[in-house]
Amino acid sequence: MAKVPVQFTLNGSEKAEFVESGTTLLHALRDKIGDTSPKGGCHQGTCGACSVIIDGELRLSCLTLAETCNGADIKTTAGLAEGGMLHPLQRAFLDAFATQCGFCTPGMIMAAKVLLDRMPNPSREDVVEALSGNVCRCTGYEPIIQAVLTAARANSQNAA
Ligand code: FES
Ligand code: FES
Repeated sequence: MAKVPVQFTLNGSEKAEFVESGTTLLHALRDKIGDTSPKGGCHQGTCGACSVIIDGELRLSCLTLAETCNGADIKTTAGLAEGGMLHPLQRAFLDAFATQCGFCTPGMIMAAKVLLDRMPNPSREDVVEALSGNVCRCTGYEPIIQAVLTAARANSQNAA
């Protein structure tokens, strides 16, 4: 199959690869570039484990062709920590025991990040709605919701 060049920014670093036409962004990130933080669960758009942020929008990398991402700004959970410090969402997930097997966690955190970037003080209903595309088999969701609300509170206290 023909290979096509793809070039984008991943967590602030320029990436350039040749991928087979039709390669998903999930496959390109994990198997070509080595960022394994987006997870492959269903590979058909129903679990949210592969969620990444592309140009500020939450996107499913299993349904996104890598070749459509030329020039994009892509963010994954692998790029959230700064200066050795966990992102407030990562810290809150740890503190709330919102991670068990951890498979859903990167996608949950990406979905939560898009929410908090747009809505710094979400209600519980806002959080539930924002995470509605992400499936967790382990936690029962409540610790995840609480973690996002805690991170939102921490953000607004830091901003005050
Ligand atoms: S792996 Fe993409 S939505 Fe499940
Ligand atoms: S922590 Fe296991 S699927 Fe969510």
